[in-house]
Amino acid sequence: MTNQAPQRPLVDSFGRHVTYLRVSVTDRCDFRCTYCMGEDMVFLPKSEVLSFEEIQAVIGAFVSRGVRKVRLTGGEPLVRRDIIKLIEALSDRHLARGELDELTLTTNGSQLALHAGRLAELGIRRVNVSLDTLDGDKFRAITRRGRLPQVLDGIYAARDAGLAVKLNMVAIKNVNEEEIVPMLEWAHSEGFELTLIEEMPLGDVSFDRADTHLSLRTVRDRLAERFTLTPIAKRTGGPARYMRIEQTGGTIGFITPLSHNFCESCNRVRLTCTGQLYMCLGQEDRVDLRAALRDGGREGLDAALDRAMILKPKGHDFVIERRSAPAVGRHMSVTGG
Ligand SMILES: C[S@@+](CC[C@H](N)C(=O)[O-])C[C@H]1O[C@@H](n2cnc3c(N)ncnc32)[C@H](O)[C@@H]1O
Ligand code: SF4
Repeated sequence: MTNQAPQRPLVDSFGRHVTYLRVSVTDRCDFRCTYCMGEDMVFLPKSEVLSFEEIQAVIGAFVSRGVRKVRLTGGEPLVRRDIIKLIEALSDRHLARGELDELTLTTNGSQLALHAGRLAELGIRRVNVSLDTLDGDKFRAITRRGRLPQVLDGIYAARDAGLAVKLNMVAIKNVNEEEIVPMLEWAHSEGFELTLIEEMPLGDVSFDRADTHLSLRTVRDRLAERFTLTPIAKRTGGPARYMRIEQTGGTIGFITPLSHNFCESCNRVRLTCTGQLYMCLGQEDRVDLRAALRDGGREGLDAALDRAMILKPKGHDFVIERRSAPAVGRHMSVTGG
């Protein structure tokens, strides 16, 4: 199969086609970013995590139902033991045969220097790397344990290996909002794209998110006072909307789940590392694909995917107000970012 239409495409009850699967390969991480996790996060026992064979079976079912893009995420995908073996198998089975347009990953970059060359050999063309600041002390404070030079080494290794690098920066009020312009100028001077993300109310954290939430509408207005921003039609299959900065020649993406959501064009679902399929980052509806696979094999999976399409909600309803509860109890690292 290459680009032929699938026999049973995944279409939800609002007519949206699901063509993009995000797969969390682990809930574990070597960082503890303040907006993502608590300091004392408890991770799942390894016995509860899907095996590589199970992940491949689930991805195979999605691909045959029309998914064209798979993003591996977590937790930190590159800390899962032998992750390259999984990527080798997926590359061999789906990329090499033209069944997938893209296999990619989102990473914190800490292990990227080790793996960038092999990832490029396996047909990965681009990676998203999360980077919220270029200040080493602040980086430490945000990630609680990361080292900025290690991440920068990873980013440069990815570029040297020929991977396109997109930097993801969560815009955090009073923490990194003054660094958006320097980050933009640095990223574009190095040939990296930058995408800004609004903080989402996912899981309990050690602060009130109302203190850190920064609307990207405000950020874009501020950027427009300094730069010429031209909207561009570029789409990467994800939720970002892009603009070109005429002065740097680079692009900037905005992911605005709070100030302007794009749920009506959502084409994504998310698989957790235990095999739960969430049809929306901000809702509780889920289908247990591990049970479906174990009990019913491929047929069981197909039936579960049909159920998932009926359950995919219209959208999330994120709000961040003082002392408001999270939209869902799951941290981003559980559902997979
Ligand atoms: C959960 S991480 C997983 C992949 C990898 N560990 C990383 O950091 O890139 C994926 C993305 O989610 C973002 N993220 C985590 N928690 C978030 C939140 N509450 N709101 C918005 N973005 C969040 C991170 O900044 C990162 O860009
Ligand atoms: S954002 Fe990524 S790197 Fe940071 S704690 Fe969450 S999973 Fe780990």
